[in-house]
Amino acid sequence: MQNTLADMVGKTCLVTGANSGIGFETAKGLAALGADLILVCRDAQRGEDARKDIIAATGNDRVDLLIADMSLMASVRELADQVNQNYPQIHVLINNAGVMLSKRQLTSEGYEMQYALHHLGPFLFTHLLLDKLKASSPARIININSKMHTMNKIDFDNLQAEKKFGPFKTYAASKLANMMFTYSLAERLEGTGVTANCLHPGVIGSNIGSTPGFIKMFMKSPQKGAETPLYLACEPELEVMNGKYFMDKKPLASSKDSYDKVVAKKLWALSLEQAGLKESEAETAA
Ligand SMILES: NC(=O)c1ccc[n+]([C@@H]2O[C@H](COP(=O)([O-])OP(=O)(O)OC[C@H]3O[C@@H](n4cnc5c(N)ncnc54)[C@H](OP(=O)(O)O)[C@@H]3O)[C@@H](O)[C@H]2O)c1
Repeated sequence: MQNTLADMVGKTCLVTGANSGIGFETAKGLAALGADLILVCRDAQRGEDARKDIIAATGNDRVDLLIADMSLMASVRELADQVNQNYPQIHVLINNAGVMLSKRQLTSEGYEMQYALHHLGPFLFTHLLLDKLKASSPARIININSKMHTMNKIDFDNLQAEKKFGPFKTYAASKLANMMFTYSLAERLEGTGVTANCLHPGVIGSNIGSTPGFIKMFMKSPQKGAETPLYLACEPELEVMNGKYFMDKKPLASSKDSYDKVVAKKLWALSLEQAGLKESEAETAA
């Protein structure tokens, strides 16, 4: 499949959560296509192991590793500073890092972990890289979302699962928030040469959640899960595709709630505040 994708020589691609599962296979696929790669991982050892594996598997040694906790705004800010200072261009940003939790967990900054990792972290990181992405255009922002976004709505009184936590429901709400961010951002980016899309990678036997090993055997492989992210990152025909949700390399409709512009506007304003974005850093409506 990778042979049918355009080569990525000269393109700098950043993947978060790149040491495992879908992120690792996507990063490996991009390295095989010749991209200059930035892996973002939260654990230095797991990150370095992944970096070495990718280099050994692809023969491409232009693979850098940066360490950050994408659920913490302070860490995301430090990461963005490093990227902005050390890399002249970013052509592809893949917000992939994710978890699925069975109990409510707050970050040290006080946000529900899944909301922080799937929505606020990518919201902040993407904003802080926007000038670089625009200067590198054509550039692509790809948010790894989930079909499970359909399982919940945005409830502004329960965004941190303060009233009620549901093992799937809270995950679903965090992915819905990320999807609404993708759509709002895409509108604002129209005409800039930077696109924003999101995708469901399939039901993949990765390290996420607490799926027992024997069940994973019946799920699709992480390599399969990397196919749609790679397609969105590399396919030349998708250069102007913007504000869409993909599954199996095809655009499709997401939940009705995900297109609610009143909720999206309120969520955007709240996210700017929660992520600690200054007015000068915020992407304004087109
Ligand atoms: N698997 C599926 O069926 C499925 C379906 C729909 C959507 N997704 C989405 O696909 C994405 C990738 O998940 P996966 O299935 O490949 O799971 P995975 O194998 O567990 O990979 C998740 C990656 O995210 C990293 N990560 C977790 N918390 C982080 C943090 N606070 N800061 C930085 N990195 C962090 C993990 O690092 P560590 O190794 O250090 O924990 C790992 O590299 C997620 O966004 C997930 O929601 C997966």
